[in-house]
Amino acid sequence: MTRDELLTTYPDIHVVTHPFVKHKLTSLRDKNTSTREFRMLVEELGTLIGYEATRDIETVDIEIETPLEKAMCPVLKGKKLCIVTIMRAGNGLAEGVLKLSPSARVGHVGLYRDPETKQPVEYYLKMPHSVNERTIIVVDPMLATGNSAIMAIDKMKEMGAKDIRFICLFAAPEGIEAFKEIHPDVAMYIGAIDQGLDENAYIRPGVGDAGDRIYGTR
Ligand code: URA
Repeated sequence: MTRDELLTTYPDIHVVTHPFVKHKLTSLRDKNTSTREFRMLVEELGTLIGYEATRDIETVDIEIETPLEKAMCPVLKGKKLCIVTIMRAGNGLAEGVLKLSPSARVGHVGLYRDPETKQPVEYYLKMPHSVNERTIIVVDPMLATGNSAIMAIDKMKEMGAKDIRFICLFAAPEGIEAFKEIHPDVAMYIGAIDQGLDENAYIRPGVGDAGDRIYGTR
């Protein structure tokens, strides 16, 4: 499916087109952006896109006392959010989402790509309790084939999660299509939909290896 077909087929795919987001994504793409700046930008984008991804979470009115009078005012309802990072590149993005909700719980999913099957294999999974009662926000900067995100969300569903959202910075149309075929109920919040994947499953034009650029490795 093309970008436009995906967006018309799935109304819960949200591309965050705010000018600040666009500007920061361009800085990420630039190969001359330093590790320090790249890491900061990923975190800032986590906050900006996280803001959109949490626009509809529920609030409840409680009574408080201002210096002048009593008032009924809204606070977040229910159990704390849970941000789930797909390691390792997701960690940078998770830090940004945490700025919105510093008391959120954080789950970690570790996946590596089997060199023969090319499929993700789980090597680590640690989640808070009551996954079924929380809004779960899964984060990974790059949605390439979609395999890792699909598997991470499979795990969340096996653990009983019902309200799951996914955030990424760059997505390939192929990855979005694969993701939505398996998880049509999971809303996606995306910085930019790029042209597609190359023969090494890198997103083009993309940013290269996001984990390496966040951590200064190669
Ligand atoms: N992961 C990355 O870090 N970059 C890509 O382009 C694809 C997957």
